[in-house]
Amino acid sequence: MRAIKVTASGSYDVLIGSGILDDAGRLIADVKKSKTAVVVSDDNVFPLYGKRLEKSLKENGFEVLSFVFAAGEQQKNLDTYGDLLETMCEAHVTRKDLVVALGGGVVGDLAGFAAATYQRGIAYVQIPTTLLAAVDSSVGGKTAVDLKAGKNQAGAFHQPSLVICDIDLLDTLPEEQYLCGCAEVIKYGMIEDAAFFESLEAVPVKEQYEKVIEACVNMKADYVAQDEFDTGVRMLLNFGHTFGHAAEALSGYEILHGQGVAAGMAVITKAAEALRFCSAGTYDRLVCLLRKYGLPEKIEFPAEDVLKVVLSDKKATGNTIRLIVPEDVGRCVVKEIPVSELANWAKAGGIS
Ligand code: GLY
Repeated sequence: MRAIKVTASGSYDVLIGSGILDDAGRLIADVKKSKTAVVVSDDNVFPLYGKRLEKSLKENGFEVLSFVFAAGEQQKNLDTYGDLLETMCEAHVTRKDLVVALGGGVVGDLAGFAAATYQRGIAYVQIPTTLLAAVDSSVGGKTAVDLKAGKNQAGAFHQPSLVICDIDLLDTLPEEQYLCGCAEVIKYGMIEDAAFFESLEAVPVKEQYEKVIEACVNMKADYVAQDEFDTGVRMLLNFGHTFGHAAEALSGYEILHGQGVAAGMAVITKAAEALRFCSAGTYDRLVCLLRKYGLPEKIEFPAEDVLKVVLSDKKATGNTIRLIVPEDVGRCVVKEIPVSELANWAKAGGIS
């Protein structure tokens, strides 16, 4: 088992290894003693791993309250969040107790936001069960739910006390979810590590899970340590997310997060190349890798709708908006552009 330390407002370890779910109770008890552990999961993941987690927690002295909701981004909303808080309150969960998120990004975001706000904040632990959550969303303390007006519009920064990443849990990952995780993995190669990108061109992610997850978590830990609250370098991790989030929202979340990110990366790279901010050939290399994973490279919604959603997102500030723009494979920059230029970027990226 490897441990990667994340140094933020609270320092914590990301533990990566095989078969460590059965040891989760002890690992959690080592960092946080509490009476009750509230396991939050969805109805895809809980039937697979919930009982094993509950057993391990009970064996290590925790009382367990499990809250299971219907899987899917559509459920990452104020209603599910409210139900969870009410359930915790009715069960007399206290500030000394903790939440354990068992699932992918939706579960982690929702459980984390509940932990951030329940009685003004209690501890939580992330146990990612998807590649996307393992390499990105379980680390760094971004928690949120979606509002009707947009994705992640209500949220908080709240760092977990521990992240337990059991690689074996990825064995049951549906193919579509695996491919979505690969989009976030490709993102890391694009934003800062050309050699890592090359390794992805050479060897499928599935054949190097442990190495890939470690590399991504190391990169993410660096960004979080430098810029926990996402006002500087951490924004690079939003590469592909500006247009990607819009595609997800416009599809009613039929387009999954990783698919949105993939299309968003392709759009912004195409635009950056057309507008001469990026080396020729970068777009082709990116799209070639996205295609290997069956990931989308286009956003098919009308430009007018896309722009409207993009401008309601958090990345717009007054008359300017920040775009994460590639200069080459392995190098992206944060670029602040006037809102009036956004339509031009969308068009150059193939959104009409
Ligand atoms: N998912 C991007 C971040 O955590 O900053």
